[in-house]
Amino acid sequence: MSTRTLVRGGLVITAADELHADVLIEDGRIAALAAHGSDIAAGWTAEKIIDATDRYVIPGGVDAHTHMELPFGGTFASDTFETGTRAAAWGGTTTIVDFAVQTVGHSLREGLDAWYAKADGNCAIDYGFHMILSDVNESTLKEMDHLVGEGITSFKLFMAYPGVFYSDDGQILRAMQRSAVNGGLIMMHAENGIAIDVLVEQALARGETDPRYHGEVRKVLLEAEATHRAIQLARVAGAPLYVVHVSADEAVQELAAARDKGLPVFGETCPQYLFLSTDNLAEPGFEGAKYVCSTPLRPREHQAALWRGLRTNDLQVVSTDHCPFCFVGQKDLGRGDFSKIPNGLPGVENRMDLLHQAVVDGHISRRRWIEIACATPARMFGLYPKKGTIAPGADADVVIYDPHARQTLSAATHHMNVDYSAYEGRTVTGRVETVLSRGEPVIDQREFTGRAGHGAFTPRATCQYLN
Ligand code: URP
Ligand code: ZN
Ligand code: ZN
Ligand code: ZN
Repeated sequence: MSTRTLVRGGLVITAADELHADVLIEDGRIAALAAHGSDIAAGWTAEKIIDATDRYVIPGGVDAHTHMELPFGGTFASDTFETGTRAAAWGGTTTIVDFAVQTVGHSLREGLDAWYAKADGNCAIDYGFHMILSDVNESTLKEMDHLVGEGITSFKLFMAYPGVFYSDDGQILRAMQRSAVNGGLIMMHAENGIAIDVLVEQALARGETDPRYHGEVRKVLLEAEATHRAIQLARVAGAPLYVVHVSADEAVQELAAARDKGLPVFGETCPQYLFLSTDNLAEPGFEGAKYVCSTPLRPREHQAALWRGLRTNDLQVVSTDHCPFCFVGQKDLGRGDFSKIPNGLPGVENRMDLLHQAVVDGHISRRRWIEIACATPARMFGLYPKKGTIAPGADADVVIYDPHARQTLSAATHHMNVDYSAYEGRTVTGRVETVLSRGEPVIDQREFTGRAGHGAFTPRATCQYLN
């Protein structure tokens, strides 16, 4: 039996267009769009009609970088797939791509199966996985091919965190060579972790233990150097490259220079680098621990370069790197030693709103908002046009967004399972009103109506952003 929903009277915004159109949804997919007031739209009937007058009708957000339940520094990221995907839905995100983790000495298969098990039956919205490679060897390289065939088409490597996730240049080159053949996309955490560890040791020896030293030892130059090195290795391998959580002007410059040469090099930044800075890391009384993530927050001057990169397309994607740790009981682990503060910030619920605020502030256009938050992440990671747009045949992942509502971001009202907000007290213009995931309301007029288990694993094609 077919079920039809009609979203009527809103301004439909995609990466390509803005149009006053009615959207007909049938059996979980977009069936058709027609100009509002046209004879075609007037003839449509549906069981459920959503009045979107004075609202935006936008594709559900695609957050291509989350870490639900990530094991880190002796603890686990505090959002489960259940709490984290519910919070994502509240914030207008209808797809996440999370990172399954290979641990040293174990296969990719074991790591991936563990992540399937964590997510299965628990998600409110659709999800896919990237694979973190922590142990690149002959058998891992072979496994990469199988994973690509299974819809796990991207692999994160770390130039940071020696002894944990770190890969050396030889391992990186081998993985890139493999991805050049199997079509996988290498995602790089570009920081020179070997040099950083020396600076960490020296800082601690000088008694520099506060959270702000996290930002001082993880130097801009060491992000820029690693970004440069990753680009050259990708070039040698003939592979495309996606650099995650770009935070520094100098790293954007490396990407821009590579792109000016025509190389298939891409960059992602995150809301924390666009809206927060080392001022937050320097907050007194250990408050700075709330802002410890890697790459670290940078001096405010870097923000202009990130916004410029987003406008010029030297940066293509904004993801959250959502990796929450509670202030009490988790960030605490690093009192007296900043290097023991678990790395990561909460944000999966805030991304669409913060980027809408960037539209209000004039940093980006409305269509660019949808491009960097929905369409390009979907294309980059092989989910397009199922995800990331509103077009006939696409999944009906649709957000009804009130661009005029004002809200104050706060831990008291957010839905992420973490005891603080990185944006506490910040007022933004714009708010999610209703969210459909494959046609089903998961947020209905600001009530959660979804359920754990609605969200489905979504296998991905290889990168669709190359040609
Ligand atoms: O601080 C961060 N980013 N934590 C999550 C792990 C990573 O490197 O993305
Ligand atoms: Zn990283
Ligand atoms: Zn991350
Ligand atoms: Zn309004």
